[in-house]
Amino acid sequence: MSDESRQYRTAAVIPAAGRGVRLGPGAPKALRALNGTPMLIHAVRAMAASRAVSLVVVVAPPEGAPEVKRLLDAYELPGRTPGSSLGSTDYLVVPGGDTRQESVRLGLDALPEDIGVVLVHDAARPLVPVETVDAVIEAVRDGAPAVVPALPLADTVKEVEPAAKGEPEPVVATPERARLRAVQTPQGFERDTLLRAHETVALAGEGATDDAGMVERLGAPVVVVPGHEEAFKVTRPLDLVLAEAVLARRRANDGF
Ligand code: CTP
Ligand code: MG
Repeated sequence: MSDESRQYRTAAVIPAAGRGVRLGPGAPKALRALNGTPMLIHAVRAMAASRAVSLVVVVAPPEGAPEVKRLLDAYELPGRTPGSSLGSTDYLVVPGGDTRQESVRLGLDALPEDIGVVLVHDAARPLVPVETVDAVIEAVRDGAPAVVPALPLADTVKEVEPAAKGEPEPVVATPERARLRAVQTPQGFERDTLLRAHETVALAGEGATDDAGMVERLGAPVVVVPGHEEAFKVTRPLDLVLAEAVLARRRANDGF
């Protein structure tokens, strides 16, 4: 392999080890079904749908790696059948950790040497369109060390002094909405930059919820590209309703 193709070889790490507390009781969030297919499988397909992605690393719930391996074997995935028009895609499963940051690091540890570009994509964003995935990869390949897809906000945002649950909270500031963006995944990185961030930036408590934020702390530049409405994160029960509605609309539109 030439140095150039090695530099651009792209892997997607999918943290899927969370419980999904905000979604309510049940199986780990990534294993819950959307229109009969586990959320995680939708997310894996969304990454593998990009011709540029040659490896997908799934970070499974700590005790759930064997089950996730079985799921990946049971569902049809792009690029696994020889001769596929999407080229070949490899799939790996590793067990995750207690925080998202730890899970991502465990996924990064599994990357082979020849990967130059890394996407990190939440299993909880199962419906991101391939155009968004490709736009992020392209921006990294064009030289940006860290790229995040993001959208302008619909709501005005207030910074508050947090109070006990149910108590009124004093407002501290109102940032100008036009300058704010809600960030999504996949976030894309030059491999070495992301590894350096995970090796050097330690965040207390729940750890980082956003990989680009860790790269910012290194002082490296991070850029935003347009995100997509359908890349929303399934977090609360109502998000499941929206996700299934999006899938139904897709099926009606392209008979898929
Ligand atoms: N994640 C992970 N390992 C963890 C925690 C989260 O891999 N220890 C993953 C989730 O599986 C999810 C992504 O990080 O795909 C984004 O996290 P979030 O939406 O917060 O999912 P959960 O942590 O599962 O949900 P909750 O915070 O409601 O428990
Ligand atoms: Mg969480």
